[in-house]
Amino acid sequence: MDNKLNQKTVKVSLGGRSYNIIIGSKLLDKLGQKIKPLVLSRRAFIVSNPIVFDLYGNKVSQSLKKAGFEVNLLMVPDGEKYKSLETSYKLYNQLIEHNAGRFDVVIALGGGVIGDLTGFVAATYMRGIPFIQIPTTLLAQVDSSVGGKVAVNHFKAKNLIGCFYQPKLVLIDVDVLQTLPERELKSGLAEVIKCGFLIGEDFISFLEEHIEDILMMNTEILIEIVQRCCEFKARIVEVDERDFGKRAILNYGHTIGHAIEASSGYKKYRHGEAIAMGMVCAAKIAQRRGLIPESIMSQHEDILKRAGLPIIVPSLLDTKDVMKHLLLDKKKRDENHTFVLLKGIGEPIIEGVASDDILESLKPCQ
Ligand code: NAD
Ligand code: GLY
Repeated sequence: MDNKLNQKTVKVSLGGRSYNIIIGSKLLDKLGQKIKPLVLSRRAFIVSNPIVFDLYGNKVSQSLKKAGFEVNLLMVPDGEKYKSLETSYKLYNQLIEHNAGRFDVVIALGGGVIGDLTGFVAATYMRGIPFIQIPTTLLAQVDSSVGGKVAVNHFKAKNLIGCFYQPKLVLIDVDVLQTLPERELKSGLAEVIKCGFLIGEDFISFLEEHIEDILMMNTEILIEIVQRCCEFKARIVEVDERDFGKRAILNYGHTIGHAIEASSGYKKYRHGEAIAMGMVCAAKIAQRRGLIPESIMSQHEDILKRAGLPIIVPSLLDTKDVMKHLLLDKKKRDENHTFVLLKGIGEPIIEGVASDDILESLKPCQ
């Protein structure tokens, strides 16, 4: 395969905060040359965790050094619990010890946890220093690295402390997905399928046709799906960067999904698994309202099942507990819950849904 030909660029146009998302294979070696024109300093700080750094740190460091960068490594332990203000503080201390300045560049090498944390530190250190995303999970490649939402968790809620801060570049090398645990790949695939239902028939058909290729990590197909998801998200972020309007549609499946994650203590399910169940519930609600036919509801179940994702909220999970977490949802505006529903594939709408309708959708067999 001609790597050059198969490299795709998606531009996120946000005036002075515009940036490119470069997607392809064998791209890590090219990092140094890609960021050189984007930053003034030749000092780089890589933030990563031991799992990802052991796999790809050397390649990334070598590429930076070859391009003339001084490379410093800031290591964070693996895990969601380290996406915190405490870890941020440790990172600020290390940046200060290294005399990091306003023009130096911070590079996030990892999944969504590393990307969100690093972006938050980059946004707040010296009121903002240049930041590059190198997402290494499918979820981070199609969602969290794009659009500038950066945050850390508070013990009361996830992502409570954060801001919008766009990177200077997102470099996506799909080859890194080869080492991703299968469960993480499938979790990311839930977000890809979510994009499919939001984008339209054409992309959902493509996913239905290629789901096995994706699970087998076919490079060309991976590049294609990542590009289409990034393109879709970029166009939304361009019109609603700060999430006051259209950006809400990206939360398809997330209202119930978040409640499922929270009610199981963020331990039992990966994010994408909860979102898969949340999408099926949302499709059931839409079907009951006559917005979509039964066939679209089944299409949700079929494709998610083929992707190895759960589609039924287990009866073990206390539905009362899920409802309790839904009531705490920060997006709730009145007695109804704010939901993204479909009135067709590629036709998302935002509607209020009453608690009884949600309870009905959580029932296993209907
Ligand atoms: P993660 O970052 O925890 O990564 C999952 C696991 O995979 C980790 O153990 C990680 O070390 C490992 N890993 C990463 N890349 C690997 C690779 N190439 N090979 C082998 N192992 C690898 O999880 P995630 O699903 O990527 O991200 C979840 C986070 O993203 C959450 O904190 C969530 O809040 C956030 N998020 C943010 C946004 C946003 O818009 N900013 C959107 C969605 C999710
Ligand atoms: N992940 C949803 C958003 O970026 O708005």
